[in-house]
Amino acid sequence: MENVPSLRERNIALIGFMGVGKTTIGERLSKKLYRDFVDIDKVIEEKYGMEVSEIFRTKGEEEFRRIEREISIDYCKNKRLKILSLGGGAYTQDEIREACMEYCIVISLDLTWDSWKDRLSLIIDNRPVLHNKSMEEIEELFQKRQSTYNLNSFQVKTDSMNEEEVADEIVSLLKLGWEWYQPYIVD
Ligand code: S3P
Repeated sequence: MENVPSLRERNIALIGFMGVGKTTIGERLSKKLYRDFVDIDKVIEEKYGMEVSEIFRTKGEEEFRRIEREISIDYCKNKRLKILSLGGGAYTQDEIREACMEYCIVISLDLTWDSWKDRLSLIIDNRPVLHNKSMEEIEELFQKRQSTYNLNSFQVKTDSMNEEEVADEIVSLLKLGWEWYQPYIVD
């Protein structure tokens, strides 16, 4: 293992299905913890000068996954003290998941299917993965991914909380962990 960060330096990686609120909650967390927020999909869009949906259309999903892998791993490994929002499919790639586990604290934003399904119409336009799928197929993808999101992550159940409450819950969880495992030494 090279250059493994201390617990307090680790990036916070937010994972979870499309539309669970990784960006909104990540932005709130960034203010509460005085850390920069990085949306990995935005980094990809800026680097390639195209929206994610255009990358899917012109280069294909496989190429998108390669780019996603390269950039996600780079941020996990080489940045410190950031709040990272990963694309909903990123954590299903073994190499990204391994980099997250090694260099980040991973928080999974966990929403039930019943709550999530009402959000579909709000997000579908720029989520190519959801295009041309029936509701049953989308639910199948949603359920299939949950077990991966649960691997080596802290799960925060978000159904009954608003975004501010979720961000506060994550801050409490992190502070507890930091204090418990790496208390500041006071003379
Ligand atoms: C994807 C999720 C998207 C984006 C891409 C693929 C997925 O990110 O990376 O459209 O496979 O779940 P968000 O989860 O931020 O929407």
